[in-house]
Amino acid sequence: MRLNANSDNINYMTQSPDADQNEKMIDISQTTVGVLGGTGEQGRGLATRFALAGLSVIIGSRTAERANEVASEIGHSVKGMTNVDAALASDLVIVAVPWDGHKELLESLVISLSGKIVVDCVNPLGFDKQGAFRLDVAEGSAAQQAQIILADSRVVAAFHHISAKLLLDTDGAQLSGDVLVLGDDREATDLVSALAGTLGGMRGVYAGRLRNAGQVEALTANLISMNRRYKGHAGVQITDI
Ligand SMILES: NC(=O)c1ccc[n+]([C@@H]2O[C@H](COP(=O)([O-])OP(=O)(O)OC[C@H]3O[C@@H](n4cnc5c(N)ncnc54)[C@H](OP(=O)(O)O)[C@@H]3O)[C@@H](O)[C@H]2O)c1
Repeated sequence: MRLNANSDNINYMTQSPDADQNEKMIDISQTTVGVLGGTGEQGRGLATRFALAGLSVIIGSRTAERANEVASEIGHSVKGMTNVDAALASDLVIVAVPWDGHKELLESLVISLSGKIVVDCVNPLGFDKQGAFRLDVAEGSAAQQAQIILADSRVVAAFHHISAKLLLDTDGAQLSGDVLVLGDDREATDLVSALAGTLGGMRGVYAGRLRNAGQVEALTANLISMNRRYKGHAGVQITDI
């Protein structure tokens, strides 16, 4: 991946691993990114990094007050709104709420998210004495559930494996590794791959259709086990592409 960025115009050039696509220049500098549940760790982390990369970012919450409070803590011109207003005002929306609230939230936003790219980073996991484990999802995955509910949106699955702690540690080492990007719409997955490229040393890698999102979401349970054992913030890096 090659990255050409300046404060006026951010162009992310992704080297696609696909044989039928050589190089693609995607300009996302004018994209407004909304983060539903953006007051949580993962949402704040992503919002902070995208804002630092020069994108317009809106944090969504169930209450405007909480969204405003967290937006002003982050700074960098991040705005805070209710989830519905954030959905309406954004071009691309990231869903960063707990699995428990996923279905209900998306059902309430069908109209506001119509026509938009919706990026789902939700990992349906359970936790017990033995650690994290994957939950069975009737639709196959959180991302597939989102696509069924949001029939008029283009759902992409991505950002499942980046630790919120690392995202929020903006004074720490540069981020590294790959963001697995899954979806059924090529334009949408390319755009989200470019978005992943704004996260410092990270690269977006197309990893298949939405029907393969289940194992990507579930892999997070393995990463959490690694973190517990080795006291780290494990991520994913794909070799040879
Ligand atoms: N934490 C990580 O390192 C990490 C990494 C990769 C992926 N993820 C995924 O990202 C998602 C968010 O993780 P998180 O750790 O940031 O979670 P979190 O802090 O528990 O929740 C995020 C936000 O979601 C909102 N929320 C809580 N319950 C809700 C409900 N029932 N309905 C609607 N909104 C609700 C809350 O915002 P308001 O109260 O302001 O509405 C909360 O601040 C999860 O699905 C997780 O699997 C997390």
